[in-house]
Amino acid sequence: MANVRITRREAKRHLSGLVDDLARHIDFLGEEGITEVACSPAIAPESLPVPGTPRKISPQPPMPLAPPVSDADASAELKAIAQTVAACKKCGLHAKRRQAVPGQGNIYPDVLFIGEGPGEDEDKQGLAFVGRAGQMLTRLITRMGYTRDEVFIANIVKCRPPNNRKPLPEEMNMCRPYLEQQIAVLKPKVIVLLGASAFEGLIPRDSPWITISKVRGKWLEYQGIPTMPTFHPSYLLRNPAAMWDVWNDMQLVLTRLGRTPPPAPAKGK
Ligand code: URA
Repeated sequence: MANVRITRREAKRHLSGLVDDLARHIDFLGEEGITEVACSPAIAPESLPVPGTPRKISPQPPMPLAPPVSDADASAELKAIAQTVAACKKCGLHAKRRQAVPGQGNIYPDVLFIGEGPGEDEDKQGLAFVGRAGQMLTRLITRMGYTRDEVFIANIVKCRPPNNRKPLPEEMNMCRPYLEQQIAVLKPKVIVLLGASAFEGLIPRDSPWITISKVRGKWLEYQGIPTMPTFHPSYLLRNPAAMWDVWNDMQLVLTRLGRTPPPAPAKGK
């Protein structure tokens, strides 16, 4: 079979996926009661005691790898999702949109930011977070040491709710598969949920009392991806003091990504 060329970054992603798969496989063997596996003497830890009656298993054939995804494939998949979104009429929001807003950014982002839904500016330009809330998000992203092009920015619904109302649960349900498909392609290292709609739309809640104020700053998980809920940038425009909480949450994100968080912003900035 001819070799396929992939970038070093993809190769590293691939390798870490393979190691995770193998680790899961070893856990599975443990659940099956298998306590030992055959191991090359070159890597066997010498300090391990030799067990009495080991239950040996023959080496497993290598697990099949998911086919490598090239940059071109990932871009093409994201474009295909955007085209489907542009033609979508699954809920009533399509009727009043100027254009759908699928989201934009780096195809292999460290961070995927998810907001609520397009506002007027986004509906006009077809881009996520380009209005006032977008400027606030840009400041946050810059403070984190990234540019907007290095992260991916999307929303839970892709069409503007009339008068910027909160999207209805059924609208979020209809739209969520597009976001799920995007996440499957992007494979972000961390997801940041901006505000209540992003949180409620992506993470099933046991109770309506679990609000964004209660969960912000606490790690959640979406499909194995560490997920940090925090306040929406529009909330920061109305409550600047909440920036301290959001900054605290973003420091957790940076630490999780192995990046040194920059110093806290000076008061009033
Ligand atoms: N608010 C959002 O949640 N998303 C946008 O794209 C803009 C404002």
